[in-house]
Amino acid sequence: MNDKIGTAVIGCGIFGSIHAEAYTTHQASQLLWVCDINEERAKALAEKFNCKYTTSLDDIAEDEKVRIVSVATPDFAHYEPTMKMLSYGKNVLVEKPMATSTKEAEEMFAEANKKGVFLMVDFHNRFNPPFNEAKRVIQEGGIGKPLMAYARLSNSLYVPLKMLSWSGKSGPHWFLMPHIIDLLFWFFSRKPKTIIGKAHTGILSSKGIDTYDCIQAIISFEDGFATIESSWILPDSAPSIVDFQFQIVGEKGKIEITGSRQGIEVATDKFTYPFVSDKRELYGERWGFVYMPIWYFVNCVRENKKPEITPEEGILVTRTIEALVESLKTQKEVKIT
Ligand SMILES: NC(=O)c1ccc[n+]([C@@H]2O[C@H](COP(=O)([O-])OP(=O)(O)OC[C@H]3O[C@@H](n4cnc5c(N)ncnc54)[C@H](O)[C@@H]3O)[C@@H](O)[C@H]2O)c1
Repeated sequence: MNDKIGTAVIGCGIFGSIHAEAYTTHQASQLLWVCDINEERAKALAEKFNCKYTTSLDDIAEDEKVRIVSVATPDFAHYEPTMKMLSYGKNVLVEKPMATSTKEAEEMFAEANKKGVFLMVDFHNRFNPPFNEAKRVIQEGGIGKPLMAYARLSNSLYVPLKMLSWSGKSGPHWFLMPHIIDLLFWFFSRKPKTIIGKAHTGILSSKGIDTYDCIQAIISFEDGFATIESSWILPDSAPSIVDFQFQIVGEKGKIEITGSRQGIEVATDKFTYPFVSDKRELYGERWGFVYMPIWYFVNCVRENKKPEITPEEGILVTRTIEALVESLKTQKEVKIT
């Protein structure tokens, strides 16, 4: 008898492929379906992972064997597939950001509650070893109460110009900032009060991509503050497409994390800082922090254990970015809650 948990992936692009890989490498999961509005893409992924493919959400929703669905569609397209799957009683692992409006994120949470299923946002950097260690140090009181932070997550031009076909419908705020805002709130363990931001536009829009070039913002807490920064216009000559930096200053200590340098520098015809802890394979076995939240979600469903990454946290990140967008428009400090 096959007692594996049936899984499915909606959105067969860069990250949907990672979800599919994770579901085929967890011993308790069986990948049954992949779905994409682009049939060729769905077919290619299905052939790679030996499962069925479809362009219709109905096929997955109506398959009673499917208990877990990953939603890895573009940032602005999480709501519809997530709501549909939740309404059919599926547990949903949705990519970050949970949604690009607080209203949509709240409706997703309400639907998950109504159906009594799990809904988790894939904030995979919590599983990224240096950030995971920072959380442990903070939790054990190593730096005292966090008071101030600086977080930067940026990409080189390759990401908006070549990697993502939908970059003009997202931006550094929706694509990059969910990672650093979630980590910030996780480290601070307290609710933010306000946000005020500054942004530049013109470089990407001159290339037909109608979004912010770079953004900086200050988030204030009751007792503390943090500067967050994301850019999509770093030069492609940079050694990595990701520039990731985090500093947390506490009452009695500090933590510095260089997320984009993972201990190896390679000089060939190019100088690079390759990622070494995101997705790896050795002797036929997979490991890496991008697979871990997906495997964790399977375990949560299998053991009926509530995921520790909560929908409320996903909503708060979306609410914060929505407030940031308002602040960028009005040039005023905006309340987050
Ligand atoms: N690429 C990354 O490095 C990365 C990292 C972390 C998280 N994510 C998140 O993962 C999500 C997907 O990003 P990506 O980089 O894989 O994008 P992508 O463009 O590579 O893939 C998205 C796929 O979704 C499909 N799609 C669009 N609308 C759909 C719909 N309504 N139903 C079914 N399929 C649909 C597209 O055809 C495409 O194949 C985004 O929310 C992104 O922020 C991406």
